[in-house]
Amino acid sequence: MTTPTLSFRGATKIFRHGIVEVPALREVDLDLMAGSITAIMGPSGSGKSTLLHLAAGMVMPTAGQVVVAGSIDVGRCNPAQLARLRRTEVGVVFQQYNLLPTLTALENVTLPLELDGMSLRQARGVAEEALERVGIERPFDRFPDDLSGGQQQRVAIARAVAVPRRLVLADEPTGALDTQTGDRIMDLFTELAEAGAAVLVVTHEPRVAGFADRVVTLRDGRVVSDTANRPSRPPAATDPRDTWTPPARPADAVRPADTASLDEAWARPATPDADSDPTVAPRPATEGSNPSDPSDPTAVIR
Ligand SMILES: Nc1ncnc2c1ncn2[C@@H]1O[C@H](COP(=O)(O)OP(=O)(O)OP(=O)(O)O)[C@@H](O)[C@H]1O
Ligand SMILES: [Mg+2]
Repeated sequence: MTTPTLSFRGATKIFRHGIVEVPALREVDLDLMAGSITAIMGPSGSGKSTLLHLAAGMVMPTAGQVVVAGSIDVGRCNPAQLARLRRTEVGVVFQQYNLLPTLTALENVTLPLELDGMSLRQARGVAEEALERVGIERPFDRFPDDLSGGQQQRVAIARAVAVPRRLVLADEPTGALDTQTGDRIMDLFTELAEAGAAVLVVTHEPRVAGFADRVVTLRDGRVVSDTANRPSRPPAATDPRDTWTPPARPADAVRPADTASLDEAWARPATPDADSDPTVAPRPATEGSNPSDPSDPTAVIR
């Protein structure tokens, strides 16, 4: 059987404030396959964003497992591995966009690319193309405060999809968009799925969910329904990153992803103890074990 791109097994998240416990997600089992779009629906507070933040390694599960690409156990990753997960495997569009206010639209998209080894010129070419794909008009050197909510949202989408990802996580990515622009974004997500990505879209809008292959509904942190919208696509044979070629514009080259060393890094357990002694239990996923904060705009680039 094909390995899921994202897998939740008994995934539970309880937020703690002193003695008060807020169970946000309870024993969720869910598999997302390559080449699919899954819509997550449910009332406010039902755990949709928490589910997405777990998949992005922004919060750690209190119990259960969240596994990306068959081998990356998010709850056992150290902060450096989580940062790498978000830079190389996962594209995230946050509900609050999380754009860096002191950077222009273009710089918000180029910065993560540069941090991942692209030259400035190459990153600019890739970022400009991504901004065009989401319908942002030039000039691209406007700051987030000078953009409308819908434009900011599309810059956040451009940042998440500028280069191919195995997993695309989008939290209400059309919430600030008109119907036509929202459809355009969903067409873009459909293209990404057709290229082999697993796409998870949190939405309140039935119209948006209509683009998905499958609709999963949460209530009080539990999956209460899981319905196929249409027969799923044939499983994507390839990693979407393999077939991608950067825009031809700049002459200098993109550093090729060093897949071997990446896989090695993922395989390394998060703690030296677990590394040297297979009988040592995995590091418990505790509150505070991950410094990532979904509300921190720099989280996507760390
Ligand atoms: N960082 C946090 N600290 C404490 N409680 C939290 C935190 N994040 C979420 N929660 C709580 O967890 C529950 C689920 O929240 P979540 O944000 O996942 O809901 P949601 O389905 O995304 O809602 P919405 O549709 O309003 O965005 C809520 O009760 C919320 O108050
Ligand atoms: Mg939410």
